[in-house]
Amino acid sequence: MSPADHLAPVFAQYPMEVVDAEGVWLHTRDGRRVLDLYGGHAVAALGYKHAGWMRALSRQAEACSFQSNAVPMDVRVRAATRLAHFAGGHFDSIFFVNSGAEANENALRMAFKMTRRSKVVAIEGAFHGRTAAAGAVTWGADKKWYEFPRAPFDIGWIPRRDIDAIARQVDADTAAVIVEPVQGVGGAFDMGRDFLDALRARCHDTGSVLIFDEVQIGVGRSGQPFAAQYYNVIPDMITTAKALGNGFPCGALLMSPRVTAALKLEGLGTTFGGGPMACAVIEAVIEAIENENLLENVRRVSKYLRDTCTVGPVTGHQGAGFLHGLICSRPAKDIQRALLDRNILVGTSGDPHVVRLLPPYTLQKEHVDLLREALENL
Ligand SMILES: Cc1ncc(COP(=O)(O)O)c(C=O)c1O
Repeated sequence: MSPADHLAPVFAQYPMEVVDAEGVWLHTRDGRRVLDLYGGHAVAALGYKHAGWMRALSRQAEACSFQSNAVPMDVRVRAATRLAHFAGGHFDSIFFVNSGAEANENALRMAFKMTRRSKVVAIEGAFHGRTAAAGAVTWGADKKWYEFPRAPFDIGWIPRRDIDAIARQVDADTAAVIVEPVQGVGGAFDMGRDFLDALRARCHDTGSVLIFDEVQIGVGRSGQPFAAQYYNVIPDMITTAKALGNGFPCGALLMSPRVTAALKLEGLGTTFGGGPMACAVIEAVIEAIENENLLENVRRVSKYLRDTCTVGPVTGHQGAGFLHGLICSRPAKDIQRALLDRNILVGTSGDPHVVRLLPPYTLQKEHVDLLREALENL
């Protein structure tokens, strides 16, 4: 039977309809004001109606809404330069794309090109996207939604934080290791510096390429520009998206000089990636994070969240910065429902007992107090 609204019936729907939003607040059709601690799956980094972001988007729309990557545009150079500097100078070229999955797909392509090997190693619990390559290294996708008849390459899995398993899986056939430094869908699960360090060392020894998937944790969510800086472990490539555009669809692949050296003309391609409107908002997002001290705010308010919110059903915390997991004694889905009844939107995750928080970086302590009061009364 056709759905009445003609939307493909693939998404479960929250019991609210958003008609407007401002800062960290959503306004619903039935007149509610809902505190958004989920940010549209980690996208709304600056919150809603951010003046600089809106100005950048509308100015670029008025100036020139689109030209392909074959046409030089200053805004594209400015966005790439700003992002490269923001990432700490370890990555000398940026390839702009449209989504997280596309960033990962291209990162894996580069690793195969560089090594001419046949295997990718990923981490149990990982989520890397829904395209053929990204989905193949997403934990459990083959049983749930992968649907392609086979994976495009060999795959090895390492249990989370299992340092001993690294040497067994990452070998001379391994083109790449792909890892979320803090897993998002996996439950705001922080891999820890020792594990990431061990991956870095093993990739170095075997000549494999290390990819950090920072689609969810990147662009400031950890309280540092990227989790690579948070852990001080520098991969060969970073993939990112979500917060990068604050709602305008875009993604990026950040490449170290070793990867850049393997690029050749027409080796990568895209129509919309690197479009001027996307580049204008990327520049605006980084400018806002830097000028409004948002990294410092993420660090301060996420610490407050940890320090004050072990109440009600919450028994502990995991994750980093504003990719925050509330470990709960009751099913996360029940807590999500009960909080939404109290006008607070939170997320769940692959871990049935972890409530996932992905708030805008502008969140203040007073908003955390509202969450704490609601949790105390659950
Ligand atoms: C860590 C991670 N990688 C990749 C993706 C896929 O991104 P997209 O949905 O933009 O393709 C996601 C999306 O949730 C993600 O969390």
